[in-house]
Amino acid sequence: MFKNSSPNRRRFLYIALSGLAGATAIAVGKNIDPIYYSHTLDNSKRDFRVTGQDPLKKRAAAKGLIYGAACGQGILASDKNLKASIVRECGVLTPENELKWQFVRPRPDVFDFSRGDWMASFARAHNMLFQGHTLVWHQQLPEWFKEVVNRQNAEKFLVEHITTVTKHYAGQMHAWDVVNEAIKPKDGLKAGLRQSPWLKLLGPDYIELAYRVAAQADPKAMLVYNENDLEHNTPEHEAKRTAVLKLLERLKSRGTPLHALGIQSHLLGHGSLNPRKLRNFLSDVASLGLKILVTELDVIDQKLPSDSMVRDRMIAAMYEDYLSIVLDERAVIAVLTWGLSDKHTWLSMVTPRSDGSPVRPLPLDSNFKPKLVWNAIARAFDQAPKR
Ligand code: XIL
Repeated sequence: MFKNSSPNRRRFLYIALSGLAGATAIAVGKNIDPIYYSHTLDNSKRDFRVTGQDPLKKRAAAKGLIYGAACGQGILASDKNLKASIVRECGVLTPENELKWQFVRPRPDVFDFSRGDWMASFARAHNMLFQGHTLVWHQQLPEWFKEVVNRQNAEKFLVEHITTVTKHYAGQMHAWDVVNEAIKPKDGLKAGLRQSPWLKLLGPDYIELAYRVAAQADPKAMLVYNENDLEHNTPEHEAKRTAVLKLLERLKSRGTPLHALGIQSHLLGHGSLNPRKLRNFLSDVASLGLKILVTELDVIDQKLPSDSMVRDRMIAAMYEDYLSIVLDERAVIAVLTWGLSDKHTWLSMVTPRSDGSPVRPLPLDSNFKPKLVWNAIARAFDQAPKR
């Protein structure tokens, strides 16, 4: 449809058409919340200007917040530009894969901390906090897991794993994503629990057990429950918010040593936000005495237009809108993006674009130059209330 038209005309057409789509949705949808945000609406006039040159970690710290990113050990050790950017921008570092079962436990009786240790000492050397990810998850379990772990020995494996890994890093971890993604209402199980190997092997109490074991081995780390698909204005995300809140309430009422909720925030660039519902959810979580961390922020641009200037504005608008809602809640203490530069992002594998152009989900471009996303994050920090 956009063939043979100039980039400006294409942009105009896109904005006009998508504006129409948004307006129609608002006009026809009786049940649509009046403060429904659609990111396909025109943001071409939005001002992404930022004052000064301070890196993100400094802007965050000025508000009592922590900013950082996830990163792989191999690329951090080999890519000098990434290293310099991480050191400049980040106040916290988290290993993208290195502490998952698959890598940290190559055999039932072997723990390999070499990559994790390298990252912990990198973080220390550059005055960054270190955040652990993750101790209990249904994905990235080693090949041997299925053969070896059964109902009889699962508790022993889980307790031994959490104890060994958290003890190894005790005193070095600012926070631990203890349990990751335990809720999935679509699976149709009681309390919205996900059909995970841990649930099958141990029943629902595996969650509480994990926190008790972690707290005993590393009493100083902030223990986080980390979850995805909580952010958007869809029935699925709403169901997940409800189920997660119930889980957190139950854990707290039983005295479980749980300190924070991690909202992953892999946002859909074409998705919508409902500020009222999101704010209410965060404030309900906060009222349980929990802190909140944005743990894996990035924006999926798979369905956004090809033109990278238009696309960057839409991605940055999503970042700024989302962060300005979330950072209003004083219980939110940290923002971590899942990567820092578009050169290294899991989304290039998971949600590639059909036009073949590279995805652009992160603050720095593939040459490590700040994009509008960087500005959007900087602006959200600059405008955030002080903790
Ligand atoms: C992803 C990593 O980024 C990829 O490199 C890996 O292949 C799969 O896992 N939610 C999580 C993270 O909690 O651990 C995932 O990380 C992204 C989704």
